[in-house]
Amino acid sequence: SRRIALVPAAGHGSRFGSATPKQYLLLDSRPLLAHTLDVLCRCASIGRVAVVISPGDEWFDSFDWPQPKLEVLRVGGPSRAESVAGGLAALAADADDWVLVHDAARCCLSPDALQRLLDEVGDDAIGGLLAQPVADTVKRASPQGRVAATVPRDGLWLAQTPQMFRAGLLAEALQDAANPAITDEASAIELLGHAPRLVEGEAQNFKVTWPQDLVLAAAILAAR
Ligand code: C5P
Repeated sequence: SRRIALVPAAGHGSRFGSATPKQYLLLDSRPLLAHTLDVLCRCASIGRVAVVISPGDEWFDSFDWPQPKLEVLRVGGPSRAESVAGGLAALAADADDWVLVHDAARCCLSPDALQRLLDEVGDDAIGGLLAQPVADTVKRASPQGRVAATVPRDGLWLAQTPQMFRAGLLAEALQDAANPAITDEASAIELLGHAPRLVEGEAQNFKVTWPQDLVLAAAILAAR
């Protein structure tokens, strides 16, 4: 079975508050997405790297994409899950190929964390994802914006990407990709009754979400 990376990059970045979608904002004079693709393309055990962009994307073609192995799928949908489902269909992968879905906005994934996922999930029956134990105290809010409860954090993890599943199982899980309960690939697999494996991620593999995140991402990439 082969390993294929699939990068959904069809979001509009509404939280970011910029006219340019965040995957095209410049980091060290290259789009953020280019840094994300670099780490996947440099991994020798990943044979194909596919990026899903929106059919109406006005930015992608204005940059150079020197990455080897890169395939561009213009099949983005209205939600992340629909973009992944569209990309997966366009990949024409074999059912037992591993697909590693990785957010375009997680540009600081380290080669070590990627390798840890590949090593720990490579012989798993279901698949798995990078994730991190919650370090902060977690509060549930009341509608009035007051603390309704403190949620015990033992056993709570924050899901990251890549999330790695067999193409056949993932396609089955994403048949109803418009279901709002599907917020990542693992949640879709869970809806089928399976329990994905949690693999220790890393703080630097955060999702660029707010403008100040760009400063942090630039510092992390510059230090490599
Ligand atoms: O918006 P958010 O940060 O949760 O998006 C996570 C990833 O999913 C980003 O890489 C974004 O480009 C992608 N996405 C997508 N299609 C959408 C929405 C988000 O490919 N409709």
